[in-house]
Amino acid sequence: MKIFVTRKLPRPGLDLLRKECTIELNPDDRVLTKDEIIKGIKGKDGLLCLLTDTIDKDVINAEPKLKMIASYAVGYDNIDTATATERGIPVSNTPDVLTETTAELAWALLFSVARRIVEGDGFTRGGRFKGWAPMLMLGQDVSHKTLGVVGTGRIGTAFALKSKGFQMNVLYTDEKRNERIERDLGAKQVPLSTLLKESDFVSLHVPLTDATHHLIDEKELRMMKKTAILINTARGPIIRETALIKALKEHWIFGAGLDVYEKEPEISEELRSLHNVVLQPHTGSGTLETRTKMALMAAENLLIGLKGGTPPNCVNKEVFLKKPTT
Ligand code: GLV
Ligand code: GLV
Repeated sequence: MKIFVTRKLPRPGLDLLRKECTIELNPDDRVLTKDEIIKGIKGKDGLLCLLTDTIDKDVINAEPKLKMIASYAVGYDNIDTATATERGIPVSNTPDVLTETTAELAWALLFSVARRIVEGDGFTRGGRFKGWAPMLMLGQDVSHKTLGVVGTGRIGTAFALKSKGFQMNVLYTDEKRNERIERDLGAKQVPLSTLLKESDFVSLHVPLTDATHHLIDEKELRMMKKTAILINTARGPIIRETALIKALKEHWIFGAGLDVYEKEPEISEELRSLHNVVLQPHTGSGTLETRTKMALMAAENLLIGLKGGTPPNCVNKEVFLKKPTT
């Protein structure tokens, strides 16, 4: 079996693949262009790709032999799964293994913004700390405040559950009821507008879809408290970045913590110049332990799919319904 891997991954994943496949690996530590991916999958049975790769119709249809696509990410908005399904190609992702890790980054951002950690570090490092002062770099309390969780799938649920030690009042929005957080935290399901108006911290955990694109726009930001903090570890385009910049500049909200950007990896100069935002380079799942588990998971799914089995983390299970049973 021949596979194309779009970027170097943690070794255990590549070792697992090498036992059964011939691998062509992008030799450079950079994102490939669409044309390079199309060239790479020529003659291959499988593709192991990243969230930074555009896997659209042109790519999927470029190699008639292509049997399986394994993505090294939980979010798969970069993959045209409808075309993959049409072609009978299973697509897999890497859920669960990164849930706690990503929820932890959301908390890290929340505290960084609430207590102005990055600003404080720059201030102190820069030699401007001249001694304790009553009004120096005041932030926001977290304990006993209201936490708003937008989307309570795996990551949103894990993020919410971690609030327990801070005895917070938890609100959430989701299409489904989340009995776990209702039972464990007394969380309340509310409409998004209520969540935005009442929460001190709003954290986004929805996938990027047509329905969530620009879910947080000017109107939504204006609903938030002046003391509120917005956290995004999901996908950049869920927030209209120009509206957020305005909100931060004009202090409609206290601050924001971002791990993802609307035009990633581009980040506007204006956003980068603001002090009330903490910017992280999309490292939600970024620990060696988790990235290693993701590499193994992607490799396992790819191998199973290539052998005609059902990959355990297949995101387009319809693909198996379409195949005639023999
Ligand atoms: C990261 O953003 C992922 O989807 O895994
Ligand atoms: C998001 O990816 C989730 O699992 O909820």
